[in-house]
Amino acid sequence: MRVTGTGHAGIRIDTSAGSILCDPWVNPAFFASWFPFPDNSQLDWEGLGRTDYLYVSHLHRDHFDAAHLRRFVSKSATVLLPDYPSTQLEDELRELGFTTFLRTRSNEPIGLGDGLTVMIQTLTSPNDGPIGDSSLWVEHDGIRLLNQNDARPTNLGEFTKLGPVDAHLLQFSGAIWYPMTYDLPEATLNELGRQKRSRQFDRTIRYVDDLKARWVFPIAGPPCFLDDELWALNDLDGDEANIFMDQQAFIDQYEGRGYDNGMILLPGSVAEFTGDACALTHPVSDVRRFFAHKVEHLRAYRERQRPVIEAEKALWRHPEIDVLEELRHRIEPLLSQSTFLASRVGGAVLLELKGEDGDITQSLVIDFDARQVRPYADEAVGYQFRTGRALIEHLLHTGETDWINSLMLSCRCSAKRHGPYNEAVFVFLKCLSPERMQYAESWYTGQAPDADDVRIDGWVVQRRCPHLKADLSRFAVIDGNVLTCQMHGWQFDLATGRCLTSADLEIRAQRADQAVHR
Ligand code: FES
Repeated sequence: MRVTGTGHAGIRIDTSAGSILCDPWVNPAFFASWFPFPDNSQLDWEGLGRTDYLYVSHLHRDHFDAAHLRRFVSKSATVLLPDYPSTQLEDELRELGFTTFLRTRSNEPIGLGDGLTVMIQTLTSPNDGPIGDSSLWVEHDGIRLLNQNDARPTNLGEFTKLGPVDAHLLQFSGAIWYPMTYDLPEATLNELGRQKRSRQFDRTIRYVDDLKARWVFPIAGPPCFLDDELWALNDLDGDEANIFMDQQAFIDQYEGRGYDNGMILLPGSVAEFTGDACALTHPVSDVRRFFAHKVEHLRAYRERQRPVIEAEKALWRHPEIDVLEELRHRIEPLLSQSTFLASRVGGAVLLELKGEDGDITQSLVIDFDARQVRPYADEAVGYQFRTGRALIEHLLHTGETDWINSLMLSCRCSAKRHGPYNEAVFVFLKCLSPERMQYAESWYTGQAPDADDVRIDGWVVQRRCPHLKADLSRFAVIDGNVLTCQMHGWQFDLATGRCLTSADLEIRAQRADQAVHR
């Protein structure tokens, strides 16, 4: 088996029984904010695109690059389709010209012929990615690979039971908007950034320890930011408060913890697996030196991409759109359709639109109690989002359904909250179509309560995290009375059961010496 790095979460897997191209991403995503780093545009994409199978893990635009898929990937490729309840991924791929789909079932291996077997595990919580995420397991000729990508399975047991894994590819770095887009004092942002960077490293180690693969490849991040307005988001000097740790920084920290099986895949790096060995070659003579000169690489990349960014920005304005009317038209039917999410949000969410000079030109609210969109009336709000009017016009013009990822991942939108974190706000704003809203509503209402308990550090707590059901026997860290679930960093006060991260969740917990046996 040969694995070629194609940048970010992208790889191509070659075997004598066929090739699989995974998540090719080249064009900027999220309002021209995110670019793959290192630059992968010079790869032989004509050759890489001649593939037997295509796997697109999910619809985030740094995994699903429509322009690139349309132009470079062979339409005779068979798409290995994750088992999503929504057809949106398939629909979008069909629109690009793909016609052959192999619909997999989550956690069920499928033989593709000549000894090539794949299994896709699909995560379907509305909170996973843009409403679903997935991982790909591949086996051929005695070599097993798990492309975990940026998915967060609650445990890796479905993979480990298929035998020892040789190559584990997983996310290690931030690929999110938190905390930078929150409007908070700098000292608070720095502290939250430090916590986030450290938690994402610990989570990666947890997965590595669970799978115990022979080799570990950090992939699926970080993006780089080439627009001058966003340049400061790049991690240029190993800042502990920056969530966009790069591959070399990860490997250094990983080796500092005593691991010696970490390998970097640059775009064009090739890992050849034979028996017990993995031979790795790179397109540069010295990977460490490459990262030592990251700033120069980024500056040159920025100059190359300047015209691309300017061309994208020129597309955003649609002054003919009446934003309030269009928002009413798009959102009010969804507010009426939503029972669970709208009541979980409650109150009003403020949307402030900035003109080209940066001044606020219009303030609107989505009123979740009255189920309407209307002008802001100088009232109390739970959340406040501020962004360029042009971005909202563009989202309305294109009919985008996932506003929260488009806006927040672009880092061209800032958020402020008045009160505790409310996940329902974010889920609602990524489900701006009747199909998605229906899915999210039924997913939440179908969640069964968790009856199983586990004993951890002198406490008996429910086994599954109240957030997204991570197995707390593996992901919990308890410090005093506070339990932190390392899956997404949510915290719970065990003495009261109260969630410290979000207002609407509780954990069942008792001190072990007082626990009633169930
Ligand atoms: S599953 Fe998200 S914090 Fe536990």
